[in-house]
Amino acid sequence: MSNNVIAIDGPAASGKGTVSKAISEKLQFNYLDTGKLYRAIGAKYLEGYEPISAAQNLDNNDLKIYDLQKPEIAQVASEIALIPEVRAALLQFQRNFSKKLPGAVLDGRDIGTVVCPDAKVKIFLTASLDSRASRRYFELVKQDTKISLETILDQIRQRDERDQKRRSSPLVAAVDAKVIDTSDLSIKEAVDEVFAYVRSKI
Ligand code: DC
Repeated sequence: MSNNVIAIDGPAASGKGTVSKAISEKLQFNYLDTGKLYRAIGAKYLEGYEPISAAQNLDNNDLKIYDLQKPEIAQVASEIALIPEVRAALLQFQRNFSKKLPGAVLDGRDIGTVVCPDAKVKIFLTASLDSRASRRYFELVKQDTKISLETILDQIRQRDERDQKRRSSPLVAAVDAKVIDTSDLSIKEAVDEVFAYVRSKI
């Protein structure tokens, strides 16, 4: 069992996915984007499945068969994420993953606070609403998704509010997390800053 766990939390489009993946590659650690678990349950819910049993029966294939980047799936993911039984069902999957050798990077909303409270490194990545919305806008435009910047701003604002205000595992920085604001950083600068911090701890 390893305690080489790096927890990277933060709001939607704060850059945590890109940064976490880069850090896991540099260290040759395993990487889990925990948002994908909630998105997969959201996708199943949209297909008519009951979310608690979908979470209890989550299959690795569920993470591959849907287009989990779609904005409507992100929205419904943050809705099913309010259900405590859905969160409980996903907890063991995430904890098992965190024990993989030689180490693991997990990104999400509650990794440093609830999923892996003993993680060796905890980072809370944040950025202004405007910069997060424009990053997500350009990502989606590149994938040919037709959506306006205003719609994205609205969707992210709603998701922030739901993620921060929910009773079960709300989005909040762990008291021992290093908070890094990426609003004015390029991807490379954000990765370098996070990596320097990780290196000082591992
Ligand atoms: O990180 P993301 O945008 O892919 O996450 C989609 C939604 O899933 C997010 O709005 C809230 C939920 N989520 C969560 O509640 N806890 C996590 N650890 C990860 C995601």
